[in-house]
Amino acid sequence: MSATSHIINHPSFGRLPADRVIIFDTTLRDGEQSPGFSMNLAEKLRMAEALASLGVDVMEAGFPVASRGDFDSVHQIAQHTKGAVICALARSGGAKDIAAAGEALAPAERKRIHNFISTSPLHMKYKLRMEPETVLDLITTGNTAARNLTDDVEWSAEDGSRTEPDFLCRCVEAAIKAGATTINIPDTVGYATPEDMERIFSMLLARVPGADQVIFSAHNHNDLGLGVANTLASVRGGARQIECTINGIGERAGNAALEEIVMALRTRHDQYPFTTGIHTESLLKVSRMLATITSFDVQPNKAIVGRNAFAHESGIHQDGVLKNAATYEIMTPESVGWTRSSLIMGKHSGRAAFRDKLKALGYGDLDDAKLNDAFARFKDLADKKKAVYDEDIVALVDDEVRDNEHIRFGALSLTSCSGKPSSVTLSLTVDGETVEADATGNGPVDAAFNALRSAFPHDARLALFSVAAVTEGTDAQARTTVRLEEDGKLVDGQGADADTVVSAVRAYVHALNKLLVKRDRAEPEELTA
Ligand code: KIV
Ligand code: ZN
Repeated sequence: MSATSHIINHPSFGRLPADRVIIFDTTLRDGEQSPGFSMNLAEKLRMAEALASLGVDVMEAGFPVASRGDFDSVHQIAQHTKGAVICALARSGGAKDIAAAGEALAPAERKRIHNFISTSPLHMKYKLRMEPETVLDLITTGNTAARNLTDDVEWSAEDGSRTEPDFLCRCVEAAIKAGATTINIPDTVGYATPEDMERIFSMLLARVPGADQVIFSAHNHNDLGLGVANTLASVRGGARQIECTINGIGERAGNAALEEIVMALRTRHDQYPFTTGIHTESLLKVSRMLATITSFDVQPNKAIVGRNAFAHESGIHQDGVLKNAATYEIMTPESVGWTRSSLIMGKHSGRAAFRDKLKALGYGDLDDAKLNDAFARFKDLADKKKAVYDEDIVALVDDEVRDNEHIRFGALSLTSCSGKPSSVTLSLTVDGETVEADATGNGPVDAAFNALRSAFPHDARLALFSVAAVTEGTDAQARTTVRLEEDGKLVDGQGADADTVVSAVRAYVHALNKLLVKRDRAEPEELTA
């Protein structure tokens, strides 16, 4: 293992213990960039709060020059979220980018500007259309400009893992000379192997003048499913900052998952003798909050936070766990936030039991109005269904925790008779005003969606529609996913209800609300040399 535990006086962290790894969370920037995962301002603020309580050291809040919406969310997070260093992304060559990042971050107690530019031959030639010497100049310009706005400056070599080693050394040296205090080497396209990543960091530490005065950082994408393995190998090579996202969300196959890395470091401390500042018992809660906000559940067998991560189906395993949990559990479920209680709720459960259940499921921060609405929906469901399971409650409160929705579902009445068109009367509230529409269609869902298009006219195309039962039984709730497409932008929405048509309308309304957020976004202008 490389011995880089030199800790210098870092502008944001002072003198960190030599075994401390910095956790840099980019759920709100790289994670949010992935198709269908966009969040509105209120959702980002909730996530930021949760990430700060989880104990992340640095939180990348967005890319301010990209859109007014991104600027505002970085600014608001900088103003309200305490405890973590707030970071904003900027391109090294964009004077506007660095100024926007500095302005958005102004209210933060501790702030970092993260500037990046591509350094691989492929990216320089085809994406940037720049000569290597121009890229070197922009690295100096970008880091100098960022350093004039804050002492905590990170520089990233985009596509760093596919960069020529000699040129990478020159780039890193230029960034350090211009004032960067953290150097990030991303595996942008998820191509590297663990051996590559360990070698790259060891090489930079051995060869670049000034390398012992900065923190090296790993940022691994998961295209080959190696994101976490590459991150651990980067730490072996000398990286002391890890960039990651909750649930591993991110561009394409995602980024390395925060919960997996943190628990790997903790569980295999014998091989990775490092600590983080993460309160691991909150991992499940934050994972669920993100899944709720984005409407993307993690797969059941996802490590740490998947529904089956600690479930033992086979009799032999169950017997072993009952005799001694360590037989089949390498960490305790409680250490990452699972509780052993599987209290089933029914129509006699009261508000206090419901509130306790919500807390255990990660919805402890619901305000009274939302709690009341969720409780009313729970009572309604409990009247229709014999037993209400955790999955039912999660599906049901998903709708209630969404903030700042322009459009909300009101009510629906439906007439349907086999062989005849269905007809629907639908009411919505749009920015507080009630809107009603009638429509017919080829079946109940078609009629309901036609009514929705008439109540709130829009051109988005329905690109996906799927329904699944939340639990077993004919009285189970339906959970619907709707994907809408508009001008190449995709958004997914989810809804749940014991009535399948209502669940479909809730999902459609959720997707429409996300589309309204997306419309606000534009790509930043192209960089010129
Ligand atoms: O993957 C990547 O290269 C990035 C950089 C902007 C750090 O996300
Ligand atoms: Zn990335």
